[in-house]
Amino acid sequence: MKIAILKTSADIGAYAADIIENRISHGRMKVLGVATGSSPLPVYKELAARRLEGLSAVSAFALDEYVGLSPSHPESYHAVINREVTKPLGLDPERVHVPDGTATDLEGACAGYEERITAFGGIDLQLLGIGSTGHIGFNEPTSSLSSRTRIKTLTPETRKDNARFFTSPDEVPTHCLTQGLGTIMDAKEVVLIAQGRSKAKAIAGLIEGPVSVMCPGSVLQMHPQATVILDEEAASELQGAAYYKYVAENLPLWQR
Ligand code: F6R
Repeated sequence: MKIAILKTSADIGAYAADIIENRISHGRMKVLGVATGSSPLPVYKELAARRLEGLSAVSAFALDEYVGLSPSHPESYHAVINREVTKPLGLDPERVHVPDGTATDLEGACAGYEERITAFGGIDLQLLGIGSTGHIGFNEPTSSLSSRTRIKTLTPETRKDNARFFTSPDEVPTHCLTQGLGTIMDAKEVVLIAQGRSKAKAIAGLIEGPVSVMCPGSVLQMHPQATVILDEEAASELQGAAYYKYVAENLPLWQR
C-alpha cells in the first residue's frame, strides 16, 4: 500500500490526478471507477482543469446508488455523478454507469451491473472515499470481504453523515445498491482519499488494523496496487505516520 500524507486539498487533487493522467497516457485507463461524496471532489476539480483529451474515451462505473431516489433527484448518485463528474470531465454520458436504485428487480439490477463491469473489461482504477464507519462503497461493517454488487442497509451513522446533502436527516434513504468488497478488490488499481479528523479512526483501521469486516476498508491491505492519499488530520491516528512520510521522501528510483 502506498501512503501519501499531504498538506492541502489541492495537493490531494493534484496527486490523484497525476496518477490518472499517467495511466491515461500509458493507455492503461479504459474504465474509471468513480465515487461520490466530498472526498474525490478535489480530484474531479483538478482533472476538469487539466482538460485531458484522453478522458472522453474513458468509461466510468459508479460505486453505489441510493435505493428509491429517482435519477432526477439532485442527491441521487445518478445526478451527482452527472453534475460532478460526467459534465466537468467531459465524459461521454453513454459510457457512464450507475447502479439502478429504482429498478423493480433490484437483485437483477445488481447482477446486471456486475455483468456490465465484466463486459467492459473490468475497472482499471477505482477512486474511493471512506466513511466514518470504515465503509468503502457502501459496504458497512460486517460486509463480506468477498461480496459483490448487492442491496445494503446503511448504518444510522452513515445516514447521519450524509444528512448534510439533504434537507432533513429522514430524507436520507435507508438502503443502497453498492459494489461489493470483492468487486472493488477486482479493480486493477485503487486510489482512496480521506480528509479531516472524522476519518482518522477509519483510516487507522484501514492501514494498520487487522483485516476485518468491522473496518471494511481494511480489505485494501490485500490489494496489490492501492494508494491512500490523506491530509494530516485523516492521518492523525496512524502509529506509523512518520515512517510513511519517510518512505515517501525516500522513494526508490523506479517509483519516482
Ligand atoms: C460514495 C461512497 C462512500 C463515500 C464515503 C465518504 O460513492 O461510496 O463510500 O466515499 O461515505 O463520503 P465523503 O467523501 O462524503 O466523506
